[in-house]
Parts: sequence; structure tokens; C-alpha cells
Amino acid sequence: MLQTVIKRCLSTQRLKPLKAIYSPQFRRIHVTASLRHGEYEWQDPKSEAEVVNVVYIDKDGNKIKVRGKVGDNVLYLAHRYEIPMEGACEASLACTTCHVYVPPEHFEKLPASEEKEDDLLDMAPFLKENSRLGCQIVLTKELEGMEIQLPKATRNFYVDGHKPKPH
Ligand code: FES
Repeated sequence: MLQTVIKRCLSTQRLKPLKAIYSPQFRRIHVTASLRHGEYEWQDPKSEAEVVNVVYIDKDGNKIKVRGKVGDNVLYLAHRYEIPMEGACEASLACTTCHVYVPPEHFEKLPASEEKEDDLLDMAPFLKENSRLGCQIVLTKELEGMEIQLPKATRNFYVDGHKPKPH
């Protein structure tokens, strides 16, 4: 009964715009909504051409090899592989908990840091010449083989042993 009523309503001229809303084209618009933070990094590379292999080095010196891809954000990629990079502000440039060291050969291939990133880094513990904020690094083919080292500690980092989980 309800279906019949709906069919009758949709067949009237006045409800044509409503019919358009429920058309397959309209629904497709919703399906292609933008990816949430970090969702892209959970997708595997679609081809070898976009693979970017990197190595994370945790604060104890353990090396974790990761098969990333072009466009991956270093912070969110770390979350996918449970590497303890906190990222308290979720890449909104409001903390230093994604602080990393980048080796010189790759450091010079990164786009220059913005003033805001530099200001934050000035407040980061264990600051070095090759410090960057991980959430501001997006993988490119030029960064193949990059070793991303985590500092001994970051400001705001949980001190109770809590390991950050992907958001
Ligand atoms: S996660 Fe806060 S600045 Fe990178």
C-alpha cells in the first residue's frame, strides 16, 4: 500500500525534482564523497608505479619497513602500521606530536616548511636541523627509501604507555 502511494506521488509533475534526487546519478554524488582523514593511507598501492617504500625508526631504534604510496601522509601511514606517532591535532598544525627527523638526502627533496610549521618545531623537544612535522610530509617517488626517525619524546605524548590508535 505504501509503495503504491509513493509511486503515485512520484508520477505527478510536481514531484519531478524529488524523482531526480532519488535517481542513480544523484546517489553517485554521495558515494564519491571525499575521503576522511587517514582513509587514503589505508588503501594499498594500485600499481608498482605508485609504491614508495619508507622505513620508520621508532624511539628505541627499531626499524619498521612500510610499503607506502604516492600521496600518503607520513602521519596517517604511521597510524595504519601502528607506529607510535601521536598526531594529537590531526594534522591541523597545532601540536608537535608528529615530530620526525628526515635524513639530509630526502630532507632537501621536501617542499619548504611553512612559517607555522617552523614556529611549532621551535617548541618541539629534541629539535634538530633535519626536524619536520610528519603530518606535513606527503610521499612522492623522490622519497623512495626515506628513513623517518621518531624523536625520543614529543610534547603531549601520553606518558602512561598508551599507544595511539588510528583515528
Ligand atoms: S599532528 Fe599536530 S602538527 Fe602534525
